[in-house]
Amino acid sequence: MAGTINKLIALLALSYYQCQCQCIEVKDEYYPRYHLAPPYGWMNDPNGFSKFRNEYHLFYQHNPYSSQQPGNVHWGHAKSKDLVHWEHLPIALFPDQWYDKNGVFSGSALVDNDTMYLYYTSNLDHPGQTPDHEQHQALATSTDGLHFKKYEQNPIIAGADLQPNIRDPKVWEHNNKFYMVLGHSINGTDGEALLFTSDDKIQWTQASTLLQSNGSLGFMFECPDFFELNGKFVLLFSPQGIKAEGDKYNNLYQTGYVVGDFDYATNVFTPLTEFKELDHGHDFYATQTIDDHGKRVMVAWMDMWDNVYPERADGFAGLMTVPRVLTLDRNLNIVQKPIRQRAHRHHALHQPGPPHAALELPDKTAEISIRAQKDSVVDVVIAQKEATDEDYTSVRIHFDPVNGTVTLDRRGADSIRRTQWRPEGRYLTWKILVDASSVELFCGSGEVTFSSRFFPRGKVTVSTDTSIRRHSSVRISPVQRTVPEPNSQQQCSAY
Ligand code: FRU
Repeated sequence: MAGTINKLIALLALSYYQCQCQCIEVKDEYYPRYHLAPPYGWMNDPNGFSKFRNEYHLFYQHNPYSSQQPGNVHWGHAKSKDLVHWEHLPIALFPDQWYDKNGVFSGSALVDNDTMYLYYTSNLDHPGQTPDHEQHQALATSTDGLHFKKYEQNPIIAGADLQPNIRDPKVWEHNNKFYMVLGHSINGTDGEALLFTSDDKIQWTQASTLLQSNGSLGFMFECPDFFELNGKFVLLFSPQGIKAEGDKYNNLYQTGYVVGDFDYATNVFTPLTEFKELDHGHDFYATQTIDDHGKRVMVAWMDMWDNVYPERADGFAGLMTVPRVLTLDRNLNIVQKPIRQRAHRHHALHQPGPPHAALELPDKTAEISIRAQKDSVVDVVIAQKEATDEDYTSVRIHFDPVNGTVTLDRRGADSIRRTQWRPEGRYLTWKILVDASSVELFCGSGEVTFSSRFFPRGKVTVSTDTSIRRHSSVRISPVQRTVPEPNSQQQCSAY
């Protein structure tokens, strides 16, 4: 009986949702041309990043009713054949059960024997009580990558002694055994990453603690991920509560990693490095990776809790970074290389050659490649063409060869992010990806990156005012649209 009622409620929710969301207008001004964003409404963390029948699936935390807040989050869904062109799919998971009615929170996917297993955190609120919520881990499966069925005996991990903050399961398989890393808060004061194991993907037991904050890494670890990279193991996670320290940790929450050794026989992780921030921009959080035939590919939410951006009034909030391939260098630093987007190389707006004055971008997109002698001052300004003194309408990226620093200034409140970086060889090389309301900077081979949002209205210009000299070049190419246009047939059909 309860099951039938739940199904009826889900059906009603679905039809309500369909009429609410069909082709709600989303404005084009800030909507990305080649980054994945929700068709309408709210997006936060990437979830369930996986490859199923030769297609990449990317789910995400989604509120289809409003772009102002996450609400009782759903799992939005998109797929891609090449990690460049994206297609929206209908919502995969609704908060329609007693255990997840206040949010189908973040989680991951495991593909095994032609079935997709989605592991997620089911959130349940208890307003006015202490604690005011509880979190369990739940499972849903699919055999077609489109329709998902929640496991009848959910939740699969209740974790009474781990309440109330235990979330974001990331699951993988190793030698026919299954592993899950979960983020946890010890009494609200110290974060930790817990490892669980299973023989059947359903019954899980706690096996070890991979890492604990011990006062230095904040009160909660969100979205942990654990994987082998170039012979070492990486614990990648998003700790909450690390205090700012000079140029470090300036966002509300951080995303970073610890590299170490891991022994599958004992489940012990031995750190070899300190915690290092993975990106130095304003908007980078809640990363998730997959193993794609031996390549480790990562995406992050390009936004940040508490940042309130003007796109919300345009019908959407949040987007993903471009997928990036990760490797580890000899100093145990993660290097990020963006998956190549569809730049119109033969239609380059500016060919290799000396720097130039402001150049107008045809559709607010650009792939900018810069090479300069390593002692050059380099300055790139990406700005709204029409003069304004509003916040976040331009971005200036600057290299100071004397101090060896890169600065990104998006102009406005809390506008500056900076870090140490020096080119490794004779030349500075930068790749900058611009897309309507975002900028991603890759320094050198990707050993330092910045991901930030900015909000230019109307036309956008790029200027490079540098001391670039001989053997230097600046190439600026527009990037093709590879995600559905807002309000297009393809986009609306996701509903
Ligand atoms: C990270 C996070 C996760 C949680 C989800 C809820 O941004 O707080 O820990 O599962 O968002 O939307």
